Amino acid sequence: PATSSTVTLTVNGEKHTVAVDHRTTLLDALRERLGLTGTKKGCDQGQCGACTVLADGRRTVSCLQLAVAAEGQEVTTIEGVADGDRLHPVQQAFLDLDGYQCGYCTPGQICSAVAVIEEHAAGWPSAATGDVRPDAGAPELTAEEIGERMSGNLCRCGAYASIVQAVAAAARTPGTEAE
Ligand code: FES
Ligand code: FES
Repeated sequence: PATSSTVTLTVNGEKHTVAVDHRTTLLDALRERLGLTGTKKGCDQGQCGACTVLADGRRTVSCLQLAVAAEGQEVTTIEGVADGDRLHPVQQAFLDLDGYQCGYCTPGQICSAVAVIEEHAAGWPSAATGDVRPDAGAPELTAEEIGERMSGNLCRCGAYASIVQAVAAAARTPGTEAE
């Protein structure tokens, strides 16, 4: 049986057609085939969040997704979060508030935060039921909510306090959820 396939991946709005072994993860395809090394490999087991990208707007740990399964999805990596030379408000907030130390977890934290802010704006629909949570429309994204919603993104430097501050600040930036 065939062990590789040609897939077309749509990443940051560009289509890339590559032949990949069926076992290739989206993470390895991004880094090693497309040269998009902003997405980091930490654990390669779905536990650290360093490899978080957005797939059709949803947070995805790219080390647990096969590249062949990403065909047809709109993948956004840290390289595609900014609008040209204009940083995304989440990126700007991480810079302004020192939301990192070594920076290794940062691309995943930022991708995750972009989606968290959009989820909050949408009223945290439950993944299981689609029901909108009772706190829908709450004006403030609290530190507790951010901690809970980003608990899949680990930071070995322990920069959590400033990460949470940066995400909260970005959430207060007008228009962030529409980016
Ligand atoms: Fe994917 Fe750690 S590298 S979750
Ligand atoms: Fe170093 Fe988070 S800033 S791992």
